[in-house]
Amino acid sequence: MSNPPAYGYVDIDADTARHASRIYWDDTAADYQAEHGEFLGDSDFCWSPEGLRESELRLLGDVAGRTVLEIGCGGAQCARWLRTQGARVVGMDLSAGQLAQARALGARTGIEVPLVQGDAVALPLADESVDLACSAFGAVPFVADSAALMREVARVLRPGGRWVFSTTHPFVWCLPDEPDEDTGLRIYHSYFDRRAYTEHDEGGRAVYTETHRTVGDRVREIVGAGLTLVDLLEPEWPAGLTATWGQWGPERGAYVPSTSIFVTRRPGAPTKDQYTPLRAQHPRVS
Ligand SMILES: C[S@@+](CC[C@H](N)C(=O)[O-])C[C@H]1O[C@@H](n2cnc3c(N)ncnc32)[C@H](O)[C@@H]1O
Repeated sequence: MSNPPAYGYVDIDADTARHASRIYWDDTAADYQAEHGEFLGDSDFCWSPEGLRESELRLLGDVAGRTVLEIGCGGAQCARWLRTQGARVVGMDLSAGQLAQARALGARTGIEVPLVQGDAVALPLADESVDLACSAFGAVPFVADSAALMREVARVLRPGGRWVFSTTHPFVWCLPDEPDEDTGLRIYHSYFDRRAYTEHDEGGRAVYTETHRTVGDRVREIVGAGLTLVDLLEPEWPAGLTATWGQWGPERGAYVPSTSIFVTRRPGAPTKDQYTPLRAQHPRVS
């Protein structure tokens, strides 16, 4: 049987996605932090390449005294910022390489946070053990079964708790990974193709996978997990931001969104700080 092509769209299972992500993020952790660390900030909560910061948006509400889980924490920059805001925070990630970066950054900044290694579709936490969960592009775009991830987060959240995550905007699936207007704005792939983008090594082993869900799929996954969808943010490209991040950049960003941020909540006990829709306060967030 011949090997799959070096890259392309294939159906993947949970094990393939997990193994590929371990390989990819372990191998690239140091490069990822070297390339993006300055933009992220050592102790700052950046939701996306548009530079949206939690210090400005407050999508998680008041975090002081709350137990917060950061999923796919990478270098744990967000977890570190949450700690400075008075949260009890745990950072979790699949990749030992990323967690090693997080530990080194913790030692360098003097802001250390508890870190656990695990898979977001099988969270190593008890039922109803966290007040809030968050993720900035961690895990959601990489797991084979993101509906299972939603159910896992719903399981560990206490009633009334929020789950806020940013991920690649589903529209981006149709476009090439280029930030410029000429090539980056040509539709070349079907929005409806749910097979995972996968790269294979010479032996046919998957070494990178990225998955796609349409907007409707995401809503059904969230509602299917028993969560309530509170808001969906589609950040506009900020005036004056010239930095590019892969296909994210000012030229393409002037036309289409590349990030989506889903604000969800587990129904139950009312929280003292109700979520206020952001559109009126932040015109950049459509
Ligand atoms: C794009 S990085 C984002 C890291 C960090 N949140 C940031 O903003 O820099 C994606 C992260 O998700 C992690 N990840 C991928 N699949 C995962 C899974 N199944 N469970 C937990 N983490 C996962 C990767 O190891 C990586 O650290």
